[in-house]
Amino acid sequence: MSSAAQRWADELAAWRIDPDILARAPENPYAFPPGLFRAAHPESTTPLTERARAALPDSGTVLDVGAGAGAASLPLAPPAGHLVVVDTQPSMLDELASTASGRGLRITRVDGEWPGVADQVPVCDVVVCSHVAYNVPDLGPFAQALNDRARNRVVLELHSDHPWVPLGPLWQRYHHQPRPTGPTAELAVAVLREHGIEPQQQVWERPAPDLDGEALATYVAFTRRRLCLPSERDPEIADHLAAHPPQPRRSVVLWWDR
Ligand SMILES: C[S@@+](CC[C@H](N)C(=O)[O-])C[C@H]1O[C@@H](n2cnc3c(N)ncnc32)[C@H](O)[C@@H]1O
Repeated sequence: MSSAAQRWADELAAWRIDPDILARAPENPYAFPPGLFRAAHPESTTPLTERARAALPDSGTVLDVGAGAGAASLPLAPPAGHLVVVDTQPSMLDELASTASGRGLRITRVDGEWPGVADQVPVCDVVVCSHVAYNVPDLGPFAQALNDRARNRVVLELHSDHPWVPLGPLWQRYHHQPRPTGPTAELAVAVLREHGIEPQQQVWERPAPDLDGEALATYVAFTRRRLCLPSERDPEIADHLAAHPPQPRRSVVLWWDR
């Protein structure tokens, strides 16, 4: 029987896009649109922010890995006085930096891939990592490095199954190929346990994104890019999404204390 870490890596590898389809993709299907990942208003609360705030001293520090536009960490300030944000996609951190500056908030920005850049990052009171795990084949060392940079607590959130699962029927329609369904958050927990991390867990229903006007157009283009299709297909993707709007999804918040 293979280890959980090996199964996690193998199941993620099964999502690899057929090289012929990828070669014809006019745009990068893996890029994230910052506008869809904007932080909610400063006091917004989710299970992740509740678990993080519970371990955060006044004026404390937060490290957000795979921070994107700051949806997980910006609502933590205050009480946090300083955010350290890490991401591989500069346009996401540009968006985060612009929001932080509008709120008069101090951030330290680290452009790069976790855990490779971990030694450029200080130990912080709380480490958050929201909706990044399914991008990470080598999840054990990734989580271990989060653990090593946390003074009090790590809070990691991921969907209960792979974020591309809802795209499966459209992939089948356009490319006539089935898509995988694994891995799951349950397997992620098994990987953490193999690394000596025993997380607590809370499952919740993350609401469907609020899509109107510009957000809807961005979501349509995001979906179409993920399908490796050209922009001429936007109208039919929009029709499909009107008939099958995104649904609330089960999300799992994992946390552990140092
Ligand atoms: C789905 S977005 C989530 C963004 C944000 N955490 C949120 O909850 O809205 C995933 C983000 O993780 C980043 N990312 C993926 N793998 C990463 C890695 N190994 N190191 C740093 N950033 C990573 C991506 O560039 C992207 O901005």
